[in-house]
Amino acid sequence: MPGRGLMEGMELPHHEDVSPGSGSLPPRAWYAASDAPTLPLDGTWRFRLSPTADAADESFAADGFDARAWEGIAVPGHWVLQGHGTPHYTNQLYPFPVDPPRVPTENPTGDHLRTFDLPADWPSDGGATLRFDGVESCARVWLNGTPLGDFKGSRLPHEFAVGPLLRPEGNVLAVRVHQWSSGSYLEDQDQWWLPGIFRGVTLLHRPEGCAGDYFVHASYDHRAGTGTLRVDSDVPGRVTVPELGVDAATGETVAVPVRPWTAETPRLYDAVLATSGERVPLRVGFRTVAVEDGVIKVNGRRILFRGVNRHEFHPDTGRAVDLHTMRTDLLLMKRHNINAVRTSHYPPHPAFLDLCNELGLWVIDECDLETHGFTVQQWRGNPADDDRWTPALLDRAARTVERDKNHASVIVWSLGNECGTGRGLTAMAEWIRARDPDRLVHYEGDRSCADTDLYSRMYADHAEVERIGRGTDAGGPDSRRQLPFILCEYAHAMGNGPGGLGEYQRLFETYAHLQGGFVWEWIDHGLTHPAYDYAYGGDFGEQPHDGNFVCDGLLFPDRTPSPGLIEYKKVIEPVRIEGEGREGTLRITNLHDFADLSHLAFTWSYEVAGEGVADGVLPVPATGPGEHAEVKLPPAPTRGSGAETQWTVRAVLADDTPWAQRGHVVAWAQLPVETGTVLPVPGGTPPVRDGGRITLGPASFDAHGTLLSLGDLPIRDLRLDVWRAPTDNDNGMPWRPEPSLATRWRKVGLDRMRHRLDAVELGDGSLTVRTRVAPAASDLGLSTEYRWQSDGSRLLLTVRVTPEGEWPVPLPRLGIRFGLPGAHGRVRWFGGGPGEAYPDTRAASLLGVWESDVAALQTPYVRPQENGARPDIRWAELGGLRIDTDHAPWLTARPWTTEQLDAAAHRPDLTPGDTLWVNLDVGQHGIGTQSCGPGVLPPYELHAAPSSLSCVFSLTTP
Ligand code: GAL
Repeated sequence: MPGRGLMEGMELPHHEDVSPGSGSLPPRAWYAASDAPTLPLDGTWRFRLSPTADAADESFAADGFDARAWEGIAVPGHWVLQGHGTPHYTNQLYPFPVDPPRVPTENPTGDHLRTFDLPADWPSDGGATLRFDGVESCARVWLNGTPLGDFKGSRLPHEFAVGPLLRPEGNVLAVRVHQWSSGSYLEDQDQWWLPGIFRGVTLLHRPEGCAGDYFVHASYDHRAGTGTLRVDSDVPGRVTVPELGVDAATGETVAVPVRPWTAETPRLYDAVLATSGERVPLRVGFRTVAVEDGVIKVNGRRILFRGVNRHEFHPDTGRAVDLHTMRTDLLLMKRHNINAVRTSHYPPHPAFLDLCNELGLWVIDECDLETHGFTVQQWRGNPADDDRWTPALLDRAARTVERDKNHASVIVWSLGNECGTGRGLTAMAEWIRARDPDRLVHYEGDRSCADTDLYSRMYADHAEVERIGRGTDAGGPDSRRQLPFILCEYAHAMGNGPGGLGEYQRLFETYAHLQGGFVWEWIDHGLTHPAYDYAYGGDFGEQPHDGNFVCDGLLFPDRTPSPGLIEYKKVIEPVRIEGEGREGTLRITNLHDFADLSHLAFTWSYEVAGEGVADGVLPVPATGPGEHAEVKLPPAPTRGSGAETQWTVRAVLADDTPWAQRGHVVAWAQLPVETGTVLPVPGGTPPVRDGGRITLGPASFDAHGTLLSLGDLPIRDLRLDVWRAPTDNDNGMPWRPEPSLATRWRKVGLDRMRHRLDAVELGDGSLTVRTRVAPAASDLGLSTEYRWQSDGSRLLLTVRVTPEGEWPVPLPRLGIRFGLPGAHGRVRWFGGGPGEAYPDTRAASLLGVWESDVAALQTPYVRPQENGARPDIRWAELGGLRIDTDHAPWLTARPWTTEQLDAAAHRPDLTPGDTLWVNLDVGQHGIGTQSCGPGVLPPYELHAAPSSLSCVFSLTTP
């Protein structure tokens, strides 16, 4: 083992040597506040950026340096988001030559300076600690001219003892931060590279006799209903839990009847650790985590992760995320039935974990470690398998575990992400197990599961997950088949999607040791940008980059839920409502792991033609977790009106909770009762040719049989359409050798179909237009017949499509498209809503009468792509036109064309024209998750097959 800074005979500067740093205090438990005073040093600091690590001298750190001419910078913050340099996005590639531990000479280096006075009441006794909660990627620190040390490990705390150096006034804190360091090799997570002091800096008074490190062990015996508490503390003292009447010495074990902590019932007990010099408030949650019979159990019961991966992200401030934003994230998660977070791929701000304890989320807490960029060189030189790096890895493990070990929500430690395999990982796992045997260890990258308590995979397809469920999966040691299984990442939420969630959920609910998954990922990392709205990789001119792969979340960058989150909420709802609408019978299954149904109220409403006509409350017994109840609905309020009727049953919160108000919908179902009458078929009026025009009732056509108008309403370019602006999932995975679906579509020419007119036939009661729709350079075709009929005021169109040739690809969509004047205005429809849906993303679609303006029908994906379809259309009114249908087609209406949508790279590239483009589709291809994962499942593929679509056009009454 070479000494610090010595590799291959060369003395490296501190930022390039492999050591984790020097001069800092050992890691310890983190807490926000005790009765010892603290002084936050956040705010405006003086800042100077140099292009290289050695371009600027260190005299700025000397006592008395005059930095008044420097610019100001916000701490916490990233300098690249404050006008100094630019962000850089890569997924797995290192943005610098891979030559560990060396980094480029071009190494942006930010010198930060802050002066401060001690508050007047700052105690004169004791010591003081200076705490950095997160600095990317390597810092060197001086206080009043004295060097304190240096550190790496960007998303981990580092503390220095500074007591003797402090003076009442005019303290000068100098911090030099290098963007690149040896630590950058360990922080190759898929995200923006964002240097800076991005979490808080705090001065903490350390009184004589203050607390040191402490470890709260709080377990729960579900058989006895007893909690067992022991607080180990470096500094002896007493632990009191007033509510439980506990007053014990540190190190002493006490057992008391308690209510346990779970993510569903996050019961915390306020406690105090009192040493002779300090009182530290604790919030204790009693729970026991174990693997039994190949299943993860908490308090003796199997749990199911309905999870998400969360990076820390804000579109303006990057990974400097304030408390309000953290809470917003958690409230949104709870309101969308999410019960678990993997802190991909580093420990979050510790305050986030406090909120998880309080609101109730299971947490997989991941170490700040990823060496993914070594995969491009077959892991050659991987620090995870190189003893010289093991101290740095162990330092990261220790700083994670020591900081976060007192959080009830944290039930699993994760060694890191995508580091291949290696001795360093094994060393981390061994250290963690020895230090904290009461939690589980996770790591995804090693299929042998040598170091882990769970088998974890990312993006495995449904069939493989099912094999794992059955224990028939291939490869790996047999021991792996005895382990619980999770998908630590799945359902890649990039752009439109993810599709196929329901099929995964069914597997998780079928096989006991398939314990759920974590959608990748929580939020799009689009950065606020003046021209692009939100910027993604490449938008700052950086090379190499991975484009919009950084925008793959369930939330848009501004934290508005995307349709993917609405879908996920529905798929993972913890109550399943099923039944038979005609008979009015319901089966309500409680899918909670711990809670009974007493916290929910059930309501019903009865809808006729999509409009509610009656509603009421439905008594449901307080069914226990895993149990179900059979319930009867009241007699149907109407019958036999000829209109479509249905029940909508909802489970809502019975009372306010810390995360949502009474009445918040947790789960729902719709049960059809009667189908409506079929579409009236107008007919009788004969078509009439008059020079270059054909008229049929209120409609006028040109000599080619192209519809021109309905009454006074001009209608443009009505014809068959098969194209959609490829989604990120259609575009597939750029690193895969096989062509993506979108590439195959373009190769076939689906984006440039030609329309040949074969015949215009005027019959007794109909106008028939025969065409062949086909791409150039191919013998594939779609023989397409448009048949028009009218009763004098309304117009019926029946489109029949017969494919010719062997179609090697599914169709993106199949239907008609046409233009109406005016791109704005309101749209009303009876069909699925309120948000968009596609064949494999339609679980959350509610059948009803909906209204929206055209703008709000567009789903604003950061990179524009196919969006906005509404399913199951019975009728729609838009742009002066009413459309009645009986095939329940899909409706899409947008103020630009599909071609414009296809060409756009950012939202502002799309500006409304003067036409409202309407697609009415008899079929849509599914969405899938092939941007990183499996494609569209077979039932949701749209194959070229004989198809027909019927609709009746009429004018809306103004
Ligand atoms: C995984 C990785 C994530 C992210 C995701 C795709 O391989 O762990 O960090 O890159 O793929 O978005």
